Amino acid sequence: MTRPHARNHARSALALAIASLAATAAFAAAQSDPATPDGVAGTSPPPAPAAVVERGRYIVATSGCNDCHTPWVMGEKGPEPDMSRMLSGHPSDMKLPPPPALPEGPWTTLTAATNTAFAGPWGVSYTANLTPHEETGLGLWTLANFRDTLRTGKHLGRGRDILPPMPWPVYGQLTDADIEAVYSYLRTIPAIDNQVPEPDPPAG
Ligand code: HEC
Repeated sequence: MTRPHARNHARSALALAIASLAATAAFAAAQSDPATPDGVAGTSPPPAPAAVVERGRYIVATSGCNDCHTPWVMGEKGPEPDMSRMLSGHPSDMKLPPPPALPEGPWTTLTAATNTAFAGPWGVSYTANLTPHEETGLGLWTLANFRDTLRTGKHLGRGRDILPPMPWPVYGQLTDADIEAVYSYLRTIPAIDNQVPEPDPPAG
């Protein structure tokens, strides 16, 4: 009676040990992303496991990334994100006039119809292309580049400050595993060629 049970137990302990070894190896591989001096790796890491990608899809879908990084259009039921341009950022062909000056008072911020450009005391910010396009999106970003951006609020963790309304102080609190999941998912979505403009400084 006890022997088959003991054998099963030994077998599942072995399976567990193998699984955790594999997880450790994957983690080590992710941590050792080689970054070139400008912080951008030359080779893509191997694809992440399906469960990690799914976790990332779930976080992106429930954390509002599409609210700002996907251009909104007028649909039958009102404004909605145009998912054919999912997470591709402020459309390069949408050139905006300077924002109208606001009167003195409590109103401080203006939003373009696409919800991808925002004017406020910081100037005008345009949402980034989060797709894996290599020239215009995050295609060449390492996991470390992505994690450091969300954690420090600086481009690649050491460049210019990321402007409002990007809620990096919120997303910077995600665990390392969840940040890796978001990064892994973003690598699987369609790459869209869309060059987002640099922010405009405050007027005057
Ligand atoms: C309320 C609007 C808003 C939401 C929600 C939002 N973002 Fe952003 N995001 C922005 C804006 C605007 C910028 C550009 C800021 C700038 O140019 O300084 C930006 C920039 C970024 C950058 C930096 C790109 C770079 O080149 O440095 C990353 C990465 C990013 N967002 C990821 C995300 C992810 C992932 C989510 C969802 C978990 C998300 N954002 C949700 C508005 C938003």
